[in-house]
Amino acid sequence: MANKSAVFTVDEKQVEMPVRSGSIGPDVIDIGTLYKNTGTFTYDPGFTSTASCESKITYIDGDEGVLLHRGYPIEQLAEHGDFLEVCYLLLYGELPTANQKKDFDHRVTMHTMVHEQMSRFFTGYRRDAHPMAVMCGTVGALSAFYHDSTDITDPHQRMVASLRMIAKMPTIAAMAYKYHIGQPFVYPKNDLDYASNFLRMCFAVPCEEYVVNPVLARAMDRIFILHADHEQNASTSTVRLAGSSGANPFACIAAGIACLWGPAHGGANEAALNMLAEIGSVDRIPEYVAKAKDKNDPFRLMGFGHRVYKNYDPRAKIMQKTTHEVLAELGHRDDPLLEVAMELERIALTDEYFIEKKLYPNIDFYSGITLKALGFPTTMFTVLFALARTVGWIAQWNEMIEDPQQRIGRPRQLYTGEPKRDYVPVPKR
Ligand code: SDX
Repeated sequence: MANKSAVFTVDEKQVEMPVRSGSIGPDVIDIGTLYKNTGTFTYDPGFTSTASCESKITYIDGDEGVLLHRGYPIEQLAEHGDFLEVCYLLLYGELPTANQKKDFDHRVTMHTMVHEQMSRFFTGYRRDAHPMAVMCGTVGALSAFYHDSTDITDPHQRMVASLRMIAKMPTIAAMAYKYHIGQPFVYPKNDLDYASNFLRMCFAVPCEEYVVNPVLARAMDRIFILHADHEQNASTSTVRLAGSSGANPFACIAAGIACLWGPAHGGANEAALNMLAEIGSVDRIPEYVAKAKDKNDPFRLMGFGHRVYKNYDPRAKIMQKTTHEVLAELGHRDDPLLEVAMELERIALTDEYFIEKKLYPNIDFYSGITLKALGFPTTMFTVLFALARTVGWIAQWNEMIEDPQQRIGRPRQLYTGEPKRDYVPVPKR
């Protein structure tokens, strides 16, 4: 391909920057030498036009509503695959053969228990602590237990840490839930698949055997697939930035969990369900749509809009289908929250404001209804998002460590504060 370039004129000085093309998607202008050649920075708060890295893991076409993991469409992975197969794909770049899948599932299963001392961590938390606060603290503490997988320069230790994170997140998430509701912890069982094991650790009690509902387990597994990875979103960028300093993988994942918690990001599923409950009935929808459109009202329709998707989030379509399956299986087909959600979606998608601003339902709009039907409290919704996104964070972290261009991330700024001035003694102030 002919070498393409972009020419900048700064203070009448012309500089030429190389333009690089990916395999698909927008080209990038490599501005690495801009400051050296012009003494100026670029300015892009929110990084709406800035690529932070090169990656081969996930590709999103926001205008077309396309999401690919290592080239495979999310619709096909959600339909035909299971979550651990997607984990293998994200980590290694190819779909596993039957033997590779069997070996990977076994390796993950053999890491699902946590160090018994970790259960003492929970006794330090208040029972009513938000489970995401517990996840931030407990996952960050993993580096205090697993010193033998914190040397990021050792590929073997990186892979052990990666498997440990994928394997232990369901166990820790279930422990956070059990502690929150005052029930005893349930240990993982090696003869259950990943999603079934998680549901049992959350909902089993010592007094009786827990029978896994295969329809609900399949729905849980598919929800994990839908949340696995999503390019350079805020929490993934946080993990990459933390990792660029050489911090250990457990600390980096804890940083990602902290960022995901925000209501503009992973916290939107909890906020979306609370919003639907606050609206309460179809006849109150116009009042809330008006609030969302009112520039003077900070209210936003949670579960709507996206930095990248300016078309329907493909995950939301699959999520909506899963919601109907779960509600039908549980006999909640006429859940009033679903009725409000579907009518809100219909109204919003025909409203000029949402059409003009290209605001569509995102992954968080329907997930809350499904998770509530599965038996989770709203405070656990973002914990489930973090559980699933751990594989994406860890795959992107590995890619960053192995990238020869990788160096510590250190953005610059546009300074608008006071120029240099001298200290004024107190009596003269
Ligand atoms: C996730 O990045 C990812 O990939 C994230 C994620 C992942 O998998 O990692 O997909 C997961 O975080 C999904 C998004 C979950 N968040 C929500 O549902 C919260 C509600 N949505 C918004 O807060 C907002 O849409 C964001 C944060 C998602 C996107 O914000 P942007 O890209 O910065 O867009 P913006 O805030 O500049 O909005 C553009 C315009 C604004 O109007 P103007 O200032 O141009 O007049 O659209 C309006 C906004 O006021 N707008 C909304 C709205 N979202 C944007 N108006 C009403 N309701 C909304 N939900």
